[in-house]
Amino acid sequence: MQRYETIQVNQMFEATVAADGSQLIVTGEGSARFHMRFHAIWLRDNAWDESTRSAVNGQRLITLADIPPHTRISHVNVNGSEIHLTFQPENKTITYSARWLMDNAYDQQHCRHSGWMQPNLVIWDSDLSGEPDSSISGAAFNDICNDASALKEWLQQIARYGFAQLRSGPVKDKALFKVVDLFGYVRETNYGRHFEVRTEVNPVNLAYTGLGLQAHTDNPYRDPVPTLQVLYCLESSAAGGENMVVDGFAVAHKLRHENPEWFDVLSRYCVRFEYSGSNGVMLHARKPMIELAPDGELVAVRFNNRSAAAITDVPFEQMEIFYAAYRRMSELIEDESMQVMFRLNPGDCFVVDNTRVLHARKGYSGSGTRWLQGCYADKDALYSKLSSLEKSIAEKPANE
Ligand code: FE2
Repeated sequence: MQRYETIQVNQMFEATVAADGSQLIVTGEGSARFHMRFHAIWLRDNAWDESTRSAVNGQRLITLADIPPHTRISHVNVNGSEIHLTFQPENKTITYSARWLMDNAYDQQHCRHSGWMQPNLVIWDSDLSGEPDSSISGAAFNDICNDASALKEWLQQIARYGFAQLRSGPVKDKALFKVVDLFGYVRETNYGRHFEVRTEVNPVNLAYTGLGLQAHTDNPYRDPVPTLQVLYCLESSAAGGENMVVDGFAVAHKLRHENPEWFDVLSRYCVRFEYSGSNGVMLHARKPMIELAPDGELVAVRFNNRSAAAITDVPFEQMEIFYAAYRRMSELIEDESMQVMFRLNPGDCFVVDNTRVLHARKGYSGSGTRWLQGCYADKDALYSKLSSLEKSIAEKPANE
């Protein structure tokens, strides 16, 4: 979405009120000519006075029922970069910063296509391996433990690319929890607080065998799905077993480019995912493979051939094209040009956005050992930590 962030706020703006008081119109010259309309009800709802918003935590103190439905602006006054508005019938005057209004303007062309993404996201394919400053190079464990800027940059990599590596951490049982402690909280599941990934006799889940696995997102049979996964290497002497990641958002975009109908059926219809591999566990969820927000934003990809149940929510007439789309999505995931490969050594790990990036490992031989520990966590805490680091680092005086 094109916002007004590039427009410089200066004294060169004019604020007027529509004749019926229903709108504020702000026009002027910045780095570009701008013309923004704001509804009276929206402005009143977004007042920042102390009876509307808590001065302590910014939480809204009133409900919409406290604002008269026919709220109108009766008076406008500009003072420097502030705009003072008086609302009727409350006869209440509120001060707005012109900067805040520009940052939150909504009077613009919404020409978003189905599958649009937030502007901070970067989609990638195998070429990512050649990028020196990407998530493939990651960060060193000690650096992000001791340097807030390094931690911020590493978290930004996860936010931007959907995964990042972390190297040279402790080679210790459950060291993966120290990684999660840097940004959030472990999501405990029926697999426990963490799970072991190594060869086992009589495996209850294919992840515990030496077979290669098709790239997948984890646990699509949960709702909500774990949004982050950490895979931490403790032993790695077996041949093979390289890790591989695929950007599910890049796959979805490629699919849409090749045939919009394929993208459409995979985002329109739900798939059922199930897992009941151990006593007392019968997990199931019903979600699309490509999930869009109501306004078309691409928000999640789910792909896991092993836990997909019978597809019963696609209309009969659409089932053939659905399977064609599903097959092509699978082919794109298997396409080496979409894959980034890397090897984890003991003490290395990677964090993956489980709503976007698929992961896999190549098959490995029985000689030697390969031992990973994995756990789940969630993105809300990671984004919260990242935003808070960005704010505190931006506000830090330059001489500190
Ligand atoms: Fe997995």
